[in-house]
Amino acid sequence: MLQDRIKITDNYNRPIEYMRLAVTDRCNLRCFYCMPEEGIKYLPKKALLTYEEMERLVRVTSEMGVTKVRITGGEPFVRKGLIEFLERIRANTAIEKINITTNGVLTQQYIPQLKALGITDINLSIDTLDRDRFFKITRRDELPKVLDTLHNMLDEGFRVKINAVVMEGKNTEDIYELAKFTEQHPVEVRFIEEMPFNGEGNHYPVLNWNFKKILEELQQHFPAINKLPTEKAATAIKYQIPGHAGNVGIIAAFSRTFCGTCNRIRLTAQGTLKTCLYDSGVLDLREILRSGADDEVLKTALVGAFKSRAKDGFEAEKNRPQENKVSESMSTIGG
Ligand code: GTP
Ligand code: 5AD
Ligand code: SF4
Repeated sequence: MLQDRIKITDNYNRPIEYMRLAVTDRCNLRCFYCMPEEGIKYLPKKALLTYEEMERLVRVTSEMGVTKVRITGGEPFVRKGLIEFLERIRANTAIEKINITTNGVLTQQYIPQLKALGITDINLSIDTLDRDRFFKITRRDELPKVLDTLHNMLDEGFRVKINAVVMEGKNTEDIYELAKFTEQHPVEVRFIEEMPFNGEGNHYPVLNWNFKKILEELQQHFPAINKLPTEKAATAIKYQIPGHAGNVGIIAAFSRTFCGTCNRIRLTAQGTLKTCLYDSGVLDLREILRSGADDEVLKTALVGAFKSRAKDGFEAEKNRPQENKVSESMSTIGG
């Protein structure tokens, strides 16, 4: 019964309620901020968790307090059988929300099935509304398809958030263009600070466009912009532009200002648990699962990880082994 469910908290008394599940490390785009042009070395199939293994981890963590699952990748819709997997986790009544983060290239064909599953919230990665800039950023000419997906989702009544990573020299014009888009469309556009998860090895971006600069740019174009109340455990600070159907938000992903209320854990495609985006993985759940561990053993290992979380993303980054500095592709983590 729901009221009897355990609510696990971490060593800083933060409840663990939200699991981000990367179902694949593969992607059909090559976003500049996520991976090099030639792509990354993908995992062999047997290194990936199977859907059965993921389903078990969703069940076990839901028994420990997880109520929200976000499906990520790579691009989640490149993995075969995703809809059937979603049906199976939908059947778990302890999971109150299943949200998806997708690039929208393959997504449109699944909209009726997602709707039938009761999935209502989709985050779409769209860094620009300009076809040339989209091609330069993602190295693929897929903007028309992605915009079709977006409009179809809005017509079908999905709550859509647009994720736009802000990059000097790449899409700063789009801060205005994307914010303007919210005038007629009931979407939330979130501008994201660029993080160093780009698969380049030694390229650590200088954060030219931080939270403050993005906000100043918005204020310059929309002087009447006002702050909205912050939602529980949110990554984004939200703003309303008077008269707009949608709203905008800024995610200080690099400045890491929201760690104090962080309720998220992550499972990478190969079954590594991360209790912070910036850690290098704290538990090999695949190995535990494949060693034949029962649920109690799994839960004990999970509790151990939850009770030794880093205080924030800076501490998690500092705790990484020297040779393992932040540089892996976001495609292997799921964002
Ligand atoms: P909602 O559940 O809709 O609030 O979405 P979300 O912001 O949790 O997830 P989404 O997949 O849309 O991620 C948007 C951006 O926020 C991405 O760039 C993520 O990498 C970043 N992000 C999400 N969670 C964290 C986090 O725990 N720490 C940091 N630093 N960034 C995060
Ligand atoms: N910095 C910031 N955000 C990133 N994302 C992917 N790579 C990066 C990065 N290096 C975002 C994508 C996607 C979300 C899951 O993570 O835009 O929307
Ligand atoms: Fe693919 Fe997302 Fe990485 Fe872009 S950011 S290459 S869409 S996984």
